[in-house]
Amino acid sequence: MEVVIATRNLDKIKEIKEALKNLKIKIFTFSDFPGFPEIKEGNNLKDNALLKARTIAKFTGKIALADDSGLEVMALKGAPGAFSSRFAGENVSYEDNNRKLLSLLKEVPLKKRDAVFRCVVAITDPQGREEVVEGICEGKIVENPGGFQGFGYDPLFQPKDFKKTFAQMSLKEKNQISHRAKALEKAKLVLKKWMK
Ligand code: IMP
Repeated sequence: MEVVIATRNLDKIKEIKEALKNLKIKIFTFSDFPGFPEIKEGNNLKDNALLKARTIAKFTGKIALADDSGLEVMALKGAPGAFSSRFAGENVSYEDNNRKLLSLLKEVPLKKRDAVFRCVVAITDPQGREEVVEGICEGKIVENPGGFQGFGYDPLFQPKDFKKTFAQMSLKEKNQISHRAKALEKAKLVLKKWMK
């Protein structure tokens, strides 16, 4: 079975490849397909994931797996959510987004900094078969960034029952508990079913 990961985000590709490594599938990425489309995202994780997977399945003629994910901060009424990558504006860095998040939470005490990472994974094939799965990871936003692993909001997110941030974990550790890992566990079952 051949599967294309429908993203240009190298950080996501790394995590997805690690999570799927035990499956008997050949994984392709954007670098295997010149002209790989750039997809404009909206304000809903499920719609975004489906749009990415459908577009890439059609473009490549292969099964496509797309991840759309975001961080929902309770004290900010669920923001930045689907706007996580664009929180501080278009084409900003992870650091810009982290700085904005910390500044908005400046007056919020640690016990009120609950947050959830959510990941929606869509799997589609060129014939129009589709499945959508989701994973979440609960935690809180720490007051000072910690760690250098991972990407995005990882230095600010401390998962529940842990004393370190995602950025202070190895990829293997993060992949045991993360929102993406949980969604991909379900995606693996879908792929196994489609293999039959
Ligand atoms: P997407 O490409 O629209 O799905 O944007 C995902 C954005 O959510 C990323 O750019 C990060 O800002 C954030 N994000 C998603 N998953 C993670 C994660 O595992 N760690 C840190 N940030 C994440």
